[in-house]
Amino acid sequence: MNNFTFSYPTKVYFGKDSAAEKLQGELSKYGNTVMLAYGGGSIKKNGVYSEMKEILTAAGKTIVEFSGIMPNPTYAKVQEGAELAKEKSVDFILAVGGGSVIDCCKIISAQAELQEDIWTMENENKRYPTEFIPMGAVVTASGTGSEMNSGAVITHEEKKIKGPLFGAYADFAILDPTYTISVPMKQVISGAFDTFSHAMETYFGKPDKNNLSDDINEAVMRSVIRNIRILLKEPQNYDARSELMWASAMAENGVLKIGKVTDFQAHMIEHQLGAYTDCNHGQGLAVIHPVLYRHIYKNNADRFARFARNVWGISDMETAEETALTGVEALADFIKEIGLPTTFTEMGISEDTDFKAIADTAVLTAGCCKKLTREEILYILNECR
Ligand code: NZQ
Ligand code: ZN
Repeated sequence: MNNFTFSYPTKVYFGKDSAAEKLQGELSKYGNTVMLAYGGGSIKKNGVYSEMKEILTAAGKTIVEFSGIMPNPTYAKVQEGAELAKEKSVDFILAVGGGSVIDCCKIISAQAELQEDIWTMENENKRYPTEFIPMGAVVTASGTGSEMNSGAVITHEEKKIKGPLFGAYADFAILDPTYTISVPMKQVISGAFDTFSHAMETYFGKPDKNNLSDDINEAVMRSVIRNIRILLKEPQNYDARSELMWASAMAENGVLKIGKVTDFQAHMIEHQLGAYTDCNHGQGLAVIHPVLYRHIYKNNADRFARFARNVWGISDMETAEETALTGVEALADFIKEIGLPTTFTEMGISEDTDFKAIADTAVLTAGCCKKLTREEILYILNECR
């Protein structure tokens, strides 16, 4: 195993009524002015907004509302939030939403404490913030695992880049599976597939032999498959929702990554696809993964064969390559079975999208078993159309 350091700054309150029981106590640790940040209004329809307002009011807080954080949050929205946080001298940020709201708030929390532009600071000068407005996350849609890490994915519209920025860790996260009941099933499944993708992109990293993180990872992947299937039959099933919610956090809280170098090539391609098309993250991944894996599985057939055996229950065939390919096809079949798109066209991505520009700007990773060239990325994108 590679050397590693592991510690965790985010306290997690998991389960029904967590906010009612724990939020006020947590809020008492911070100053008076709280930014209540949320998205396009789903929390007003499902009652979460009123619940948050009640708890904040009972805690005696002055509330500064920051709404309209869009899916695939933009850098302009981050700047708008940071300006507001400065102007109102916000002491604490409460992010209430899915990955987009939480990501946007992590960077607002850092930008509001900086005298310089965080995009330039991190991407050009390779310096990272150390001071933050403290924040907490109330998760209303699971999948990204954003609540338990400090990374954010932000779209810089002028630069046409959707890329990572690093900001605050949430001091605490409230994960109440009942808050996810109102999420449209299409988004639930796309979020769950995002979790599955995080697990795969970690599993196919290195080292790839005899590694506890991978044994745990296989259990996470099997759990996601099982619980997606349950939820599609029984959308109200609390148990399946809670399993998916915790799997989402587990895939991105660092536990599966202990001692590993991750891959994340599918994500890097999808993020640039997002920069050019504003597409749904989990859906983009669902289209890209099988095409990418068909392209590379022969470069580490043993690893893909283990994935086939231990995740999909496929028996060994004559050669490792045959087993490996059967596993990749099981993944592709599962994507169809759960109603995710299998082509960009199905996602509504226009034929005249500049796929060459996407291939030319996607970050190239070390690759799980083959470092791709830009030509290969363009080939993969074309196969996805
Ligand atoms: O904006 P509202 O009205 O709240 O509606 C949202 C949004 O339209 C809706 N929604 C959320 N909770 C709901 C609900 N609708 C009904 N009931 C609820 N309880 O769901 C829609 C999608 O929300 P969004 O936050 O965009 O989804 P998700 O959680 O999938 O986040 C996607 C973003 O996270 C980034 C993605 O790239 C994308 O920008 N990621 C962040 C990661 C991280 N920080 O670790 C890792 C991921 O790989 C990912 O890249
Ligand atoms: Zn993701």
